[in-house]
Amino acid sequence: MKAVVVYESLWGNTAAIAHAIAEGIGSEARVLSTAEATPTEVAGAELIVAGAPILGFSLPTEAMRKSIDSNPREKKPTISVPTMRSWLAELPKGAGTGASFETRIWWSPGSAANAIARALNDAGYVAPTKGEKFLVTGRFGPLKDGEIERARAWGASLARHFA
Ligand SMILES: Cc1cc2nc3c(=O)[nH]c(=O)nc-3n(C[C@H](O)[C@H](O)[C@H](O)COP(=O)(O)O)c2cc1C
Repeated sequence: MKAVVVYESLWGNTAAIAHAIAEGIGSEARVLSTAEATPTEVAGAELIVAGAPILGFSLPTEAMRKSIDSNPREKKPTISVPTMRSWLAELPKGAGTGASFETRIWWSPGSAANAIARALNDAGYVAPTKGEKFLVTGRFGPLKDGEIERARAWGASLARHFA
């Protein structure tokens, strides 16, 4: 099975979850940032798992990321890679399974995973399960205890879908 786990991550939480999900799927899964996940890398994928943080109750926008980057009171984010929004907008049509996840604070309204799932679906990657949420304990992280293990288990459950 060709599987790719694609992520946007400003402070590393979503990247860590993406790596754990890929471990759970198995050695055939590749973990790629939105910069690395070019159409060539993704072509022919049977499973695309995509994740991003929630910022301002939704998927990060370029404007939000730039405003955080220019605010000296915020922790410097990584914004040198495309947003998940723009990656999804450029995703070539395919046929396969899609799955989405987000990292977030537990109490927040809004969703990034739902927006990702809709876009994956529109590109032909249909989701068998609801998007998954992984929690951080502060605005910039760290991840809550146990979330890495839960991500690994979720990855394994996605792989079982193909078994
Ligand atoms: C400016 C800012 C806005 C945020 N907005 C939300 C939000 O609306 N809902 C939420 O659950 N978490 C929010 N968070 C928390 C992030 O989603 C969380 O830290 C996430 O894990 C970051 O992932 P990353 O390290 O992969 O970038 C916000 C954090 C910051 C710094």
